[in-house]
Amino acid sequence: MRRYLYFLAIGLMFSCLQNESNKAVVATDIDQLVSDMTLEEKVHMLHGSGKFTSAGVERLGVPALTSTDGPLGVREEIQNDSWAAAGWDNDFATFFPAGGGLSATWNLELAEKYGVAIGEEARARNKHVLLAPAVNLIRSPLGGRNFEYFTEDPFLNKQLVVPYVVGMQEQDVASCVKHYAINNQETLRGSIDVLADERTIREMYLPVFKAAVKDGGAYSVMSAYNQFRGAYLSENDYMLNTILRDEWGFDGFVMSDWGAVHSTVESAKYGLDIEMGTEIDDYSKWYFSDALIEAVKNGEVEESVVDEKVKNILRVMVKINALDTTNRKSGSINTPEHLQVAYDVAKESIVLLKNENDILPLQSAEIKSIAVIGDNAKRKHANQGFGAGVKTKTEVTPYDALASKYPNVTLNYAHGYAENYLPNDLNRNWGQPIDYTADPELVKEAVEAAKKSDVAIVFAGSNRLVETEAEDRKGLTLPFAQVELIKAVKAANPKTVVVMIAGAPYDVSEIDAEVDGLVWSWFNGSRAGDAIADVLFGEVNPSGKLPVTFPKQLEDSPAHATNSFPGGPDVVTYEEGILVGYRWFDTKNVEPFYPFGYGLSYTSFGYEGIQAEVADGLVTVSFTLTNTGSTDGKETVQVYFGKSESAVDRAAKELKGFTKVALKAGESKTVTVEVPVSELAYYDVESSDWQVESGTYQILVGASSRDIRGETSVSID
Ligand code: BGC
Repeated sequence: MRRYLYFLAIGLMFSCLQNESNKAVVATDIDQLVSDMTLEEKVHMLHGSGKFTSAGVERLGVPALTSTDGPLGVREEIQNDSWAAAGWDNDFATFFPAGGGLSATWNLELAEKYGVAIGEEARARNKHVLLAPAVNLIRSPLGGRNFEYFTEDPFLNKQLVVPYVVGMQEQDVASCVKHYAINNQETLRGSIDVLADERTIREMYLPVFKAAVKDGGAYSVMSAYNQFRGAYLSENDYMLNTILRDEWGFDGFVMSDWGAVHSTVESAKYGLDIEMGTEIDDYSKWYFSDALIEAVKNGEVEESVVDEKVKNILRVMVKINALDTTNRKSGSINTPEHLQVAYDVAKESIVLLKNENDILPLQSAEIKSIAVIGDNAKRKHANQGFGAGVKTKTEVTPYDALASKYPNVTLNYAHGYAENYLPNDLNRNWGQPIDYTADPELVKEAVEAAKKSDVAIVFAGSNRLVETEAEDRKGLTLPFAQVELIKAVKAANPKTVVVMIAGAPYDVSEIDAEVDGLVWSWFNGSRAGDAIADVLFGEVNPSGKLPVTFPKQLEDSPAHATNSFPGGPDVVTYEEGILVGYRWFDTKNVEPFYPFGYGLSYTSFGYEGIQAEVADGLVTVSFTLTNTGSTDGKETVQVYFGKSESAVDRAAKELKGFTKVALKAGESKTVTVEVPVSELAYYDVESSDWQVESGTYQILVGASSRDIRGETSVSID
């Protein structure tokens, strides 16, 4: 009976939740539920009771909280108490393009569709929480998790996160936005103390989390492994209490990263709600288990602190219809619609880096044979490496796609380069030292394939053993001596195109100098191969733009120029401050190899009549964009702001607006980008607040951060 009453009350709560003025009702009912729980019941809701679950209170109708990894898609089911596969035969999921791919689309509608689709999949697997998106700012090209993250730019980052989180949470799944915060390297991630000044964290590293919470309404946040200013993120009063809860008004729960908790009392007081992944088999020995009960009993932690944590969880459960499940969405998984989303994202994420002598798009009518060369032509990227992957039924490789789309074309396959790793710790299947020598036999085979084909396509790049959680890369050099292979193939067939498949910058200078056609794809999901084939043959006009800067050499990148990556053994100081990514290159006049925002198209775009005006707290930038070529296409126009006279140090320019515009061949459109004046604020450490300086702001509109097509300025009072 009691259980029934709760459901009734909670059903009521749901309808009340739609109505702001009734929030008090919700609070009362959750209060009641908590007051009916014993201390033990409450505390056991605050720690893992399995690899991806924490306990509920069955007698009161509170289910165990279930979570699953993203961000590449819903992770395969594992056993409750071990990382071994559960052995289900119905835990297949769609492999969605990794973060780098999504951000390279610069398409917010796709970000929302992505969120909806991945949310539906998590619901269909009956999860409450999806551990995604992963949004830490890309500080160094070597970051092991760059492939999962979005970008080096805080504005692009926060624009993408909001529709993603909203779309996901509409499916009755809580997004757990990770990893909060200032977690930008894998080296020593479990211990390193990050030091970054206040303006830097406010302007660069926190905006994405703030937007996820304040604008996206994220229901949960994952506390990161590292320390920040001397305290672990799972017990960081400043980050969890002061900023997240007090300043941003976050009322969901903070879940620790797996094994990121180091204390009972501090974690309890300083803002952690749920402890996950502690490496102790006996759950009662975890920090937030018997030790927390003890701490409450002996007065070190107030019981009200425990109550608040339980309420944080229950509030989310109400919002995702997990208590009264009558109206709960049921989700769907592995659907054709989700594969379509994966394809749509992949096709808009592919970046055309070089296209000379009209080598691309390939003309299918003229091509009878293709040398398909390289391990990445057939490699699947849904799994491997340390960390979460996806068990998927569908992963179309480039080879598969070419074979099925062009059945009359002969494909001469050659492996090209062996994925060789030097012997290391054989228990690990990730982060192995890489072999940089070419295998002469494989090169010979590739050359023969190239010679007898109309065109050669080398599928090069990296893979998920090279780019992996828990380890940063050692340098920018491409593994497996691929440059040598590409040179040999090009010598054998001048019509050679290279497709890079990777999630982070590499040194591609020699390849760029060698071949006429260079295309960049990512760990791009279940239909990656289809998207690549469609770009190569012009079924899709490429429209991806780089969300990160490619340096000419590692030392040109800010964290490396300042010799502050990865730091250690105890501390890393972010010496470059606010000059992350292109902000550094532009301000210090360092020429990048490929600039932030760069990407070509099979057509060309003209920008004319750029003007701007300020009214009602908005800067409205407008101009005419024309597709000046003969192919339909999409252009991402980018609006950067600069302020040469300023009371504070500023980057030469900062992205403040963008929009992706589709234009038919020859078509013109008036494009308008609105930038709230508040976006121009810098974080003032004196007043601990955002300040918009008055004066003149330069506005630069372009096709990349280094391809500015027009300038104007506005004056702000
Ligand atoms: C990762 C998280 C992940 C968790 C659970 C950790 O190693 O940092 O991103 O969600 O494991 O798999």
